[in-house]
Amino acid sequence: MMEHKSIEDVKKYWNNRPCNIRHSDKKMGTKEYFDEVEQRKYFVEPHILKFAEFSKWKNKKVLEVGCGIGTDTISFLRAGARVTAVDLSDESLKLAQKRANVFGLEDKVGFYNANAERLDEIVPLEMYDLVYSFGVIHHTPHPEIAVENIKRYLSKGGIFKIMVYYKYSWKVLWIIIRYGKCRFWKIKELVPKYSEAQVGSPVTYYYSRRDIRKLLKGFEIKDMFVDHIFPYSIPEYKNYIYKKVWYFRFMPQPLFHFLERLSGWHLCVTAIKK
Ligand SMILES: C[S@@+](CC[C@H](N)C(=O)[O-])C[C@H]1O[C@@H](n2cnc3c(N)ncnc32)[C@H](O)[C@@H]1O
Repeated sequence: MMEHKSIEDVKKYWNNRPCNIRHSDKKMGTKEYFDEVEQRKYFVEPHILKFAEFSKWKNKKVLEVGCGIGTDTISFLRAGARVTAVDLSDESLKLAQKRANVFGLEDKVGFYNANAERLDEIVPLEMYDLVYSFGVIHHTPHPEIAVENIKRYLSKGGIFKIMVYYKYSWKVLWIIIRYGKCRFWKIKELVPKYSEAQVGSPVTYYYSRRDIRKLLKGFEIKDMFVDHIFPYSIPEYKNYIYKKVWYFRFMPQPLFHFLERLSGWHLCVTAIKK
């Protein structure tokens, strides 16, 4: 599938537009900017709070693989965790580092510019209580190699929290209808192209529950849930206005949440190393 894409392509894509970098129009790198990025991220993706369980990791060691510009990194730090944060994109990492400095948390975190598929070449091999990776592993050309690497940082009983994109999701259907004009057979081309805010992600895999069980060999799955449908009209959203598209505007909230749990874009998995 996408194994032939190079890690350099992936790095270039995320350096060109670090994830969530436009979540605020305030001056980049300022406290106001980071506050707004955080507010918008957790407003649009509130399930992250439930999934990450930030407060549970006080005084624990957390390895975050694919920290992006560091929104969740800061939440772990604020909760009192000791964090090692890794990303392939040096541009993302610069902002995450700056963010830790702005909030005076730089002493509690180590940042590494590393590829999840070759973690041990850069990140010292230590045992962690939690490895957390939100929306990352599906963007690397060889997810199974990344998972094998991650496993080495957990001892028996250690927790791995991973979010990957869900195959049977509203978003996949929407991409096929909206951009593919219902050409279902083009799914493998369409999903990576339109999965992110910026068109043309070189690698985006998507998983069924069965696929994730296969990927997480050597782990016991403790919890798995699907969540997150983006309901807003994109032109307004780009201008920081949260106006739902008409069919979600008229949908009763309980029905919308039911749909999110049935066909959300985020497959959130908590697994225990065996
Ligand atoms: C969708 S963003 C998610 C960032 C962050 N977890 C968040 O939720 O804001 C994906 C991130 O994964 C990183 N990434 C992709 N492949 C990677 C790899 N092989 N090793 C490390 N990071 C990777 C990208 O650089 C990017 O920052």
